[in-house]
Amino acid sequence: MRMKGILSRYKTLLPINPGTPLVSLGEGETPLIPLKTLGEELGLRLFAKYEGTNPTGSFKDRGMVLAVAKALEAGAKGLVCASTGNTSASAAAYAARSGLPCTVLLPKGKVASGKLAQALIHGARVVSIRGNFDEALELALALSREMGLAVVNSVNRYRLWGQRSVAWEMVDELGRSPDAVVLPVGNAGNITAGWAGFVQYRRAGKADSVPAMIGVQAEGAAPLALGKPCPAPETVATAIRIGRPVNGKKASWAVRMSGGKFLAVSDEEILGAQRRLAADEGVFAEPASCAGIAGLLRYAGQGLIPRGSTVVAILTGNGLKDPDTAAAGAGAPLEIDAEVGVLREALS
Ligand code: F0G
Repeated sequence: MRMKGILSRYKTLLPINPGTPLVSLGEGETPLIPLKTLGEELGLRLFAKYEGTNPTGSFKDRGMVLAVAKALEAGAKGLVCASTGNTSASAAAYAARSGLPCTVLLPKGKVASGKLAQALIHGARVVSIRGNFDEALELALALSREMGLAVVNSVNRYRLWGQRSVAWEMVDELGRSPDAVVLPVGNAGNITAGWAGFVQYRRAGKADSVPAMIGVQAEGAAPLALGKPCPAPETVATAIRIGRPVNGKKASWAVRMSGGKFLAVSDEEILGAQRRLAADEGVFAEPASCAGIAGLLRYAGQGLIPRGSTVVAILTGNGLKDPDTAAAGAGAPLEIDAEVGVLREALS
């Protein structure tokens, strides 16, 4: 069986040298799925880049694999991160893979159950913080300074560098850059990394343009869409429940340079987009992941993107990460006695 992963596949585009261990759980090569129904409705050639098929179920693996490889190369004693869930799941998995201890700081009660289960089963030391993500990140940075641990949040440049690979895969598959990319924004690392990936590919002569980068936040946690910090972020999309994005400045620059913008959508719109993706396209993504599609559903008709454009929505995490939110909105199953007549009756 061939399992390449990001580090082997994109060796020449990444800061890899002979001393960098080629860590891999088989990240990347995620499917680019045409969204026919939604695309027709919106008048776009629309695709989903479904990051839920990464080894731990989110896009974080693309950058985590490089961050962990570089931590090993530098002789780090361990890893630390703050997380709304996915970063911690990814860090815990790659730490386990590499034999490094890992500490993760999570905002208490605000992490989806699948993500928490992942961090725990991979053997990370999991600390629940009575505070939000922004506070947990400050603690993680302080702990890393005191204990000499490698921080694997998106303040780590290798995280963002590895995450550029999502852009490279899009261009490799489409044969060109899309006209626009829409994606959810929390700490604003991924939108910065995606933009940098397209720019790097253009410089290398592998793409002739950079798409408009359109970042979508939840209305209750929309510091970049509103242009001011959000001291008490709140949203059903817990992955992007962030009020002070550490990569905010870089992301604002990237979005401006690309001709894109930041948008905000409501929690109802996010959950509506999640249901539409699941029911009309067969694609199950976690709530935060669906913010980009929610942004298109609300703004595409208002001149956001010219009709007929090729647009990729990055679906950042697998729907199974947060089964509780999905089940709460999807209704209950029919329950019957085990008799065929009753079944026929129930289904009629
Ligand atoms: N979508 C999902 C599913 C996420 O988990 C995150 C971030 C984002 C989007 C936003 O990406 O922060 O680069 O703008 N999750 C981080 C975490 C914060 O801790 O797992 P971003």
